[in-house]
Amino acid sequence: MKKVCVIGGAGLIGIEISNKLIQRGFDVNLFDLGEQVNRVKDALDSKINIFYGSILDPSTLRNAIKNCDTVIHLAALLGVKRSEADKLRCLEINVEGTKTILDCVIQGGVEKFIFASSSEVYGEPLSNPISETHITQGKTIYAVSKLVGEEMCKAYSQRFGLNYVILRYFNCYGPYQTAQFVISKFIKEVIKGKSPIINGDGNQLRSYTYVSDTAEATILCISEKKAVNKILNIGNGKNPISIISLANKIISQAGKIGIIEPKFLKDFSDADRSADREIFERFCDSTLARETLNWDPVVTLDEGISKVIQNGTIFDRWEDTYDE
Ligand SMILES: NC(=O)c1ccc[n+]([C@@H]2O[C@H](COP(=O)([O-])OP(=O)(O)OC[C@H]3O[C@@H](n4cnc5c(N)ncnc54)[C@H](O)[C@@H]3O)[C@@H](O)[C@H]2O)c1
Repeated sequence: MKKVCVIGGAGLIGIEISNKLIQRGFDVNLFDLGEQVNRVKDALDSKINIFYGSILDPSTLRNAIKNCDTVIHLAALLGVKRSEADKLRCLEINVEGTKTILDCVIQGGVEKFIFASSSEVYGEPLSNPISETHITQGKTIYAVSKLVGEEMCKAYSQRFGLNYVILRYFNCYGPYQTAQFVISKFIKEVIKGKSPIINGDGNQLRSYTYVSDTAEATILCISEKKAVNKILNIGNGKNPISIISLANKIISQAGKIGIIEPKFLKDFSDADRSADREIFERFCDSTLARETLNWDPVVTLDEGISKVIQNGTIFDRWEDTYDE
């Protein structure tokens, strides 16, 4: 039986990956901050072995990684506003933290390292859909920190023979997401009877990937022999949608047509990112992931939104809740 350590396993994507791995007979060590694990404990399969700690602390990390064949590294300081507000914290967690993990991974003789990067590394794309060969020109400290993480994977491979897979996730959503991200934020507002706030003109185009599809691609990387020392885009590029259409879709699915209408803030004052850091059009070309993993996203936006509305667990914005 394969043993997998999921670091940042108590977050949106980590919960889904960890539970799915247990269902498929893997032995799972989940590593995350105590406060976060406690918030989501009810969502975690009881067979998961939980390790509490920060990725900045190598001693607890070493225990969690011990005897694992694969390490999936999802822990990060997320959110554009949050990481711009404390750039050093972002670099400490996303860069120093990743280096600390990589040192433990090499010491522990781990066979494969899967790193969660982000479509943010592409910045404003020159053309869409974006494939992995598109130049990287991230606009934020978060994007820069993810690119450094990617380069660290390559550097550890060069010097120590690390087998890595870098996954550039594109806008993922699902239950247990923080309401800083647009789908969770709109659903939370609409359920409360409030208008979803659109920053800018609402014509920004994105595609969204339901968390079970993101998790499935990540899990396939564990055993797939072709998934070694590769960068893969993981996203559902099938139906790009504007922010205004997204808001109207959520209003409709929540049964609030004629009761609530979106509100516009042209100056981005409610946004997670300022206007100069906005990405206006971005959607994913996941051909390489399909060829490498035999993976395709299967959950439509309508189905995904309905699952989140029904499940109902969306966390408050970070400012209102906790920080490490
Ligand atoms: N959700 C998306 O749309 C998306 C898109 C691109 C990339 N990603 C990347 O995927 C990964 C997972 O994202 P997510 O959406 O599940 O985010 P999330 O915030 O729900 O999960 C991140 C987890 O990391 C943990 N963490 C943060 N700092 C830590 C520390 N110092 N020590 C230990 N754990 C720590 C958090 O407690 C949290 O459980 C992240 O690396 C993120 O950058 C996500």
